[in-house]
Order: sequence, then C-alpha cells, then structure tokens
Amino acid sequence: ADAVDDVVAAFRRGDPVLVHDAADREGETDLVYPAEAVTPAALARLRNDAGGLVCVALSDAVCRAFDLPFIQDVLDHPASDDHDLRYDERSSFSLTVNHRETFTGITDEDRARTIVELGRAAADPTSVAFAEEFRAPGHVHLLRAAPDLLVDREGHTELGIALAAEAGRAPAVVVCEMLDDETGAALPPADARAYAARHGLQYVEGAALLDRLA
Ligand code: 5RP
Ligand code: CA
Ligand code: ZN
Ligand code: ZN
Repeated sequence: ADAVDDVVAAFRRGDPVLVHDAADREGETDLVYPAEAVTPAALARLRNDAGGLVCVALSDAVCRAFDLPFIQDVLDHPASDDHDLRYDERSSFSLTVNHRETFTGITDEDRARTIVELGRAAADPTSVAFAEEFRAPGHVHLLRAAPDLLVDREGHTELGIALAAEAGRAPAVVVCEMLDDETGAALPPADARAYAARHGLQYVEGAALLDRLA
C-alpha cells in the first residue's frame, strides 16, 4: 500500500483529506470531503481551519443530468467576456445553490444540509428533480468537472471527483482552500502537511493522484 491507498481509504471512510494541486498551478491545498459525509461540525472546520471558499464539485455526468452550466457561459455581462484565468484554461464554477429547506443558507447547519443533499442527489441523479430541491443563487458554489477528468484538467475539481470515483463515493465532493491565518495567502504545503499530521488526516500531492488515477 502506498500513500495514495491511504488517501483513498480515508476518503472512503468519509474522512477529509488534504490535496495540494501543484506549485506551478494554483499552489493551493484544499480540504476535501465526500459531500455526503459533511456535518455542521465539518462545515465549522472548513471555515475556521481551511478558510477559503466552500464549493461542491460535481461530475460532468451529474451536471448534465441537472442542466448545470459553467457560469461563464450563461452570465450576460461584460465582466464574463474575457476568460483570462492565470493558472488554467477555464474556471470550473457553475451556479451557487441552497437546498430549499434552508433558511438563510449560510449557517453551518444550512450549508451542511445543502451539501449532504447535493451528495444524495449526485448518488442517483435520475431520481432527483434538481430545481424542486435546490434554489439558485445560494451560498454553496457548485463546480463542474471536465468530462474526462484528469486527462482534461488537473484542478481540485477533477482531483476531487477522481478521488471519489476511486473511493466508491458519489461524484460530489466539497473542496475549500487552506489559507494562512497570518498572511492570508495560500497555506504553504509544509504547513498543510503539519496540519494534516496534527489532526490525523491524509495529505497528498496532486502529482501522486495524477500518477495513479489519470
Ligand atoms: C474555488 C477554487 C478552488 O481552487 C477549487 O479548488 C476549484 O478550483 P480548481 O478546480 O481550479 O482547482 O478556486 O474556490
Ligand atoms: Ca482560520
Ligand atoms: Zn483549486
Ligand atoms: Zn482556488
């Protein structure tokens, strides 16, 4: 068993894992959970310990089933005309949503509810009428994975969905950037590793996942 096996096993159990994309990409470490495993306490960890944007990545197949577009393609505003992302060809952002049974949508309880329901919906998309269960805009950012995952794109969106597939989890994963409380910048990989060790969590380099899962 190598490090990737341990990461996959942890994810299969529903534990969060830390995934660093690459020094020559965003250079970010995301805290990643299977959507179905998210609790209000997990949401508190995401905002307190990770601190970035809480997003749910969905597979291309799930996004097609629910008619979830790339937001760039549907925004009718000049700010979305020019796609000049510095670290990749395109952003994976789709809609923002809340589960319809949430109130404000932002509390730990509300975001956990939205996220768990997204996990449930992704596990069996044909049984779900998306618009009856979720409203947009909301407080959880959806991300749409590339069709061929790591062959097409090497973002946390695709790394997370590839990890879910390997772990036998539904194609819905929460990702949130680890930010440094002192500097506000991306948490350096060494510090992300130390956080993982302190909390008994698995840390993995995107390159290791690419080697095994691409
Ligand atoms: C949304 C992001 C994150 O980096 C997230 O990991 C998704 O992006 P990508 O797939 O490009 O890594 O910017 O908060
Ligand atoms: Ca913090
Ligand atoms: Zn990322
Ligand atoms: Zn990012």
